[in-house]
Amino acid sequence: MTESALNKPSINDTCYSCHAEKRGPVLWEHAPVTENCVTCHNPHGSVNESMLTHRAPQLCQQCHADDGHASRVVQQPGVDAFGGGKSCLNCHSQIHGSNHPAGSTLQR
Ligand code: HEC
Ligand code: HEC
Ligand code: HEC
Ligand code: HEC
Repeated sequence: MTESALNKPSINDTCYSCHAEKRGPVLWEHAPVTENCVTCHNPHGSVNESMLTHRAPQLCQQCHADDGHASRVVQQPGVDAFGGGKSCLNCHSQIHGSNHPAGSTLQR
């Protein structure tokens, strides 16, 4: 009776049945996570780590068009913290939401 014949009422309820720690509640939610896990993940598999639909920063920039960080002087992928390593996730590591009192920007 559900969309895509899932055995739970929604996509997120399907995911929570195994990934229970992602259900929250968290102090600082990241809106797309609460809304729909498959906005960022392909649950059937992907060529990217963590079964992501895209890698950071492109994943993030689909919604955060300009990250607007005042101190971003050098824009060289692979060289600075914004493009190298885990890119945006170098700093915004709590991407599924944060329980830290000062975690509003998902950094702790
Ligand atoms: C029946 C249980 C089950 C359900 C339902 C489930 N998963 Fe998983 N998922 C797993 C298991 C088991 C792993 C592997 C965990 C490991 O390797 O440590 C996993 C791994 C993952 C990973 C990590 C992959 C990686 O490379 O680290 C992601 C992302 C993920 N699942 C997303 C989802 C999403 C999104 C949904 C809902 C559409 C979902 N899962 C539903 C059991 C489930
Ligand atoms: C805004 C995009 C986004 C959404 C929406 C999202 N995730 Fe993720 N997820 C990520 C990113 C990015 C990583 C990789 C994190 C890293 O490498 O540090 C990840 C990693 C994971 C992993 C593997 C590592 C871990 O934290 O356990 C699982 C499992 C997972 N996600 C499950 C889920 C589930 C379940 C949902 C829905 C409740 C969800 N994700 C929604 C972006 C997202
Ligand atoms: C599907 C759209 C979408 C994607 C993809 C997405 N986000 Fe978000 N993000 C949002 C929305 C919506 C909010 C809530 C904005 C608000 O409340 O003003 C948000 C909030 C945030 C915040 C908190 C900002 C604040 O002002 O409170 C950070 C940090 C953030 N996202 C980082 C990321 C990173 C890093 C990625 C990639 C791993 C990512 N987002 C992917 C939609 C998205
Ligand atoms: C070097 C660490 C670092 C990296 C890498 C980083 N950010 Fe941030 N980000 C921050 C800090 C610190 C803040 C808080 C700024 C403030 O409060 O004024 C922030 C704030 C934000 C916000 C909140 C809104 C705003 O503009 O104040 C969003 C959205 C965001 N970052 C998205 C991203 C995205 C998308 C990426 C990848 C392209 C990224 N960040 C990479 C450190 C980083």
